[in-house]
Amino acid sequence: DTLNILAVSGSLREKSSNTALMHAIIGLAPEEMRFEVYRGLGDLPHFNPDLDTEAGPAAVTELRSRLAAADAVLICTPEYGNGVPGSLKNALDWIVSSGEFVNKPTAVITASPTPMGGDKAHASLLLTLGMINAVVDDGATLMIPHISLKLDREGRIKDDALVRDIEAMLAALLSACRAQPSK
Ligand code: FNR
Repeated sequence: DTLNILAVSGSLREKSSNTALMHAIIGLAPEEMRFEVYRGLGDLPHFNPDLDTEAGPAAVTELRSRLAAADAVLICTPEYGNGVPGSLKNALDWIVSSGEFVNKPTAVITASPTPMGGDKAHASLLLTLGMINAVVDDGATLMIPHISLKLDREGRIKDDALVRDIEAMLAALLSACRAQPSK
């Protein structure tokens, strides 16, 4: 069966390297992996348990139903201030109580122009995803340093080693999906 994967970039920036990378990854994926891009991070209200009611904010309901309908999630994110960008963390905070990440195979990619590859955001994101019981296979993670040197002006990947790493990451995500009951 075809797998439906929700792709999320943790950067709201128009010329984001992470968003470009996310699209390049989608372009490298095998046909059985079908991607939908979630662009709503910037429209979510700040997480407030008082708003987390039956008829909660529409943007939150939309995020939850799109996650529920997805077989897997792909996250590409920068690191800001040694952590996960607030807008991405905010989205995940909305999911703690509703549980759409439980048993959801999730690929975690951080990319940074620095030599560190966003390692602090990466570690922090793994902690949060672990808390909400996402399935993060070791192979389905990438920390990409020097991202600005690895994309061309059109946002295409110009680094062969990165292409190979992405293909291996996608294969790991695919097997994590197939390992789920009914997939
Ligand atoms: C950054 N950047 C950054 N990079 C990093 O590796 N660790 C960090 O803690 C931070 N902190 C940070 C704070 C602020 C305010 C800005 C503007 C930038 C650099 C960041 O990785 C770089 O701008 C990326 O290009 C952002 O990702 P996108 O938008 O290109 O996907």
